[in-house]
Amino acid sequence: MARFYRDASEIEERTVSQIDRPREHLIETYRKKAKHYDITSRLYPVPGYPQRAQRLRAVQALGLRAGDSVIDIACGTGLNFPLIEEAIGPDGRIVGVDLTDAMLAQAQDRIETNGWSNISLVQADAADFDFPAEVDAILSTYALSQVPDCAEVIAHGAAALSGGGRWVVLDLKVPDNTPGWLAQLGTAIVRPFASIDEWITRRPWEAIRAAMQEELADFSWTELFFGTAFLAAGESSHQ
Ligand SMILES: C[S@@+](CC[C@H](N)C(=O)[O-])C[C@H]1O[C@@H](n2cnc3c(N)ncnc32)[C@H](O)[C@@H]1O
Repeated sequence: MARFYRDASEIEERTVSQIDRPREHLIETYRKKAKHYDITSRLYPVPGYPQRAQRLRAVQALGLRAGDSVIDIACGTGLNFPLIEEAIGPDGRIVGVDLTDAMLAQAQDRIETNGWSNISLVQADAADFDFPAEVDAILSTYALSQVPDCAEVIAHGAAALSGGGRWVVLDLKVPDNTPGWLAQLGTAIVRPFASIDEWITRRPWEAIRAAMQEELADFSWTELFFGTAFLAAGESSHQ
């Protein structure tokens, strides 16, 4: 269902069809959040959480250079774009991929406001996205653990990386050794989408870790803010 857009009005015209229920529910949830996401996300997952510092660390972990091409998976409203743009400059290229039309419409506004001409947006499920070949870097922040097929997304991305290209994932997790009831209480407060029980039980950060370890070289895993988030990074294992 991947699709490229020329401008915001075209994104808004898009209707969701033939998609399964959890996906539809997720899109509906983010459609409601999109307009105020940039403000409300400052309180995410809780007020005072060092989200911006974590984002900065994630972009730094990509090791970007001027002219690099970067895919931002589940880019949302494009909060990572300014940080990436600063590193790659006008000769670089960003492709932002997201499932939710309304989030992409906000990203498009950001692009136009900043006058960036090197960013394209694609509405697609990350699991279906056809990664272009030879990309220099792939980033996903606060999103991949919501994608049921996250391991597949990592594998597809890893196969598309150029030699030395880097894959970085920043996301939330439940700290190790947290009692089940406490995890449920904590995540019930902070998770923006419906199936918290499913998220806790599925422990998607473990699948992300295993897939990155499997698919990438020089894999690193860093727990952040008392184990409530992780930064996972690795390099293409092919030449
Ligand atoms: C919490 S927001 C994070 C947005 C952005 N990465 C950031 O750091 O602000 C999660 C985003 O993931 C997107 N998303 C969730 N599941 C997705 C999927 N399967 N494929 C693509 N995007 C997805 C949502 O539409 C939403 O924009």
